[in-house]
Amino acid sequence: MRGALGGYVLSKPPAEILVSDIMNVLEGTVEISDCIDETSCANMDCCATRLLWVKIKDSIDQVLESTTLADIVVDYDKLKENREGVKMDKNKVYMDYAATTYVKPEVTVEMLPFMQEFFGNPSSIYALSRDTQLGIEKARNRVAKVLNASKDEIYFTGGGSEADNWALKGVAFALKQRGNHIITTKIEHHAILHACEFLAKNGFDITYLPVDQYGFVNPEDVKRAITDKTILVSVMFANNEIGTIEPIKEIGAICRERKVLFHTDAVQAVGHIPIDVKEMNIDLLSLAAHKFYGPKGVGALYVRKGVKLENLIHGGGQERGRRAGTENIAGIVGLGKALELAAAEIETENRKLLRLKDKLIEGLLKIPYTKLNGPVDERRLPGNVNVCFEFIEGESILLLLDSMGVCASSGSACTSGSLDPSHVLVAIGVPPEIVHGSLRLSMGSGTDAEDVEKVLTVLPGIVERLRSMSPLWREYQNKEMIAQ
Ligand SMILES: Cc1ncc(COP(=O)(O)O)c(C=O)c1O
Repeated sequence: MRGALGGYVLSKPPAEILVSDIMNVLEGTVEISDCIDETSCANMDCCATRLLWVKIKDSIDQVLESTTLADIVVDYDKLKENREGVKMDKNKVYMDYAATTYVKPEVTVEMLPFMQEFFGNPSSIYALSRDTQLGIEKARNRVAKVLNASKDEIYFTGGGSEADNWALKGVAFALKQRGNHIITTKIEHHAILHACEFLAKNGFDITYLPVDQYGFVNPEDVKRAITDKTILVSVMFANNEIGTIEPIKEIGAICRERKVLFHTDAVQAVGHIPIDVKEMNIDLLSLAAHKFYGPKGVGALYVRKGVKLENLIHGGGQERGRRAGTENIAGIVGLGKALELAAAEIETENRKLLRLKDKLIEGLLKIPYTKLNGPVDERRLPGNVNVCFEFIEGESILLLLDSMGVCASSGSACTSGSLDPSHVLVAIGVPPEIVHGSLRLSMGSGTDAEDVEKVLTVLPGIVERLRSMSPLWREYQNKEMIAQ
C-alpha cells in the first residue's frame, strides 16, 4: 500500500506478506526467459534448455512463495545481533586479535550447512559427499585467488603450527641428500623455532639470523648466510609480538637467485596485508584461519608447484595424497570464506586500524618511562602496539587489565604462562631490566575509538599502582634523589 509520503506502508503483519506478493506489486511476476510461456515454438515440448529454465523458475517461485517479509527481517536482526555480539560484553575491551579473532557471522553462516546437511565424508563416492568435496574445492580456489597461487598449490592443515612444521621438516627430509643447512631468524614463532630444534637434533645445521632494533632481518645477512649446503630459508612475514613486516620480496629474490627454497610463516600477515606469492618469490607459505576471523584448528600450506616436500601425516589419500586425515570440512569452508572477506576489506580495515594505532601509541607514550617496541613506520602490522613499562611486570599489568575488562597479552599467546622474557624483545635488544614489563595490544575488526579511550583511561592508573609496589621503582627513585 502506498504511504502518505510516497513510500509503502504494510497492509498486513510482516509474517502474512509473501516476498512473491511484494515482487508482484513492485516488479510483476518473475520471468526467467520469454520462451517459458512461448507457445509458437515447434520444439517447445522437447527443448532441454527450456525445460531447465522452467525448473529453475519453479524453484525460485517456490522460495519466494514460502518466504515472508518477517522471515527476512528476523534473519537480518539475527545477523545484526551476531555482529554486535562480537563486542562480547559491552563493558569488555578485546585487544588480543593477534592471539586469535572471533569468527565473523558471515563465515559461520557458510560453515553451518557443512556440519548439518552436507556432512558426508569427502572420500566417499555417493552424492552426499560430492557437496562436501565441492565445499573444500571452493575454499581452495578462494585461498589460491587471494595469494595469486593455483588451487593445486594449496594444502589444508590443522592450523599454522602444522603448516610451519610441515614446511620445515618436509623440505628438510625431502632435500637431505642435497644439504643439511637451514636459515631462519631469532624472532620466529615457536612453531618454527621448536621445529628447528627438532631438526638440529636430527643432524641439521640451523642458522638463526639476528634482527635490528625494530625486528627487521637484513636481506644481505640472508645472502651472506647461504652456503652450498643450504636447502631452506624461513623468515616470518610479520612478527606476532611487535608487528614487524619483513622485507619478504627481497629475501625471496635472493633465495630464488641462489636456488634455495624460501618459506614464510605468514600466519600474522595473511588477510591483513596484500600477499602475492609469485611476485614475492615465495615457495612455501603458512597461514591459519583463526587470525583472520575464521575458525580455529584449520590452516593451509602453499607449496609452489615443483617444490619437493616429504609428507608429515601419513594415512589416507586426502589432500591429493599429501596430508592424511578426514578433512575438517566446516573449518576449511570457513577458512575460505573468512579469507575472501578479509582480503576484500584489507584497505578499509587498515585505514581504521592505523588511526586507532596512532592514537593508542600517542596516549601510551604519555605514561612516564614507557618505550615503544617494534617499527615506527608503515612496516608494522596496522593493528599491533607493543610497549614496555619500566620497573613493572607485564603479567601483573595483564591481571589488573583483566579485572577491568581489558583482554591483552604480554607476548606471544603461546608463551604466556611462562615467565621467560620474550625471545623477540631480547632479540631486538630490549634491556633485561625492562623486558619483563611488556604489553601487546592488538586491535581488529571489532575495535573502535571507545575501546582505545578505555585502555588509555585505565592504564596510567594500573602502571602507577604497580610502580608504587615495585622495589625497582623505589630503588630508582632513591638513586634519583641522591643524584639531585
Ligand atoms: C607467527 C605465527 N606462526 C604460527 C602460529 C601458530 O598458529 P596456530 O595457533 O594456528 O597453530 C602463530 C600463532 O599465534 C603465529 O602468530
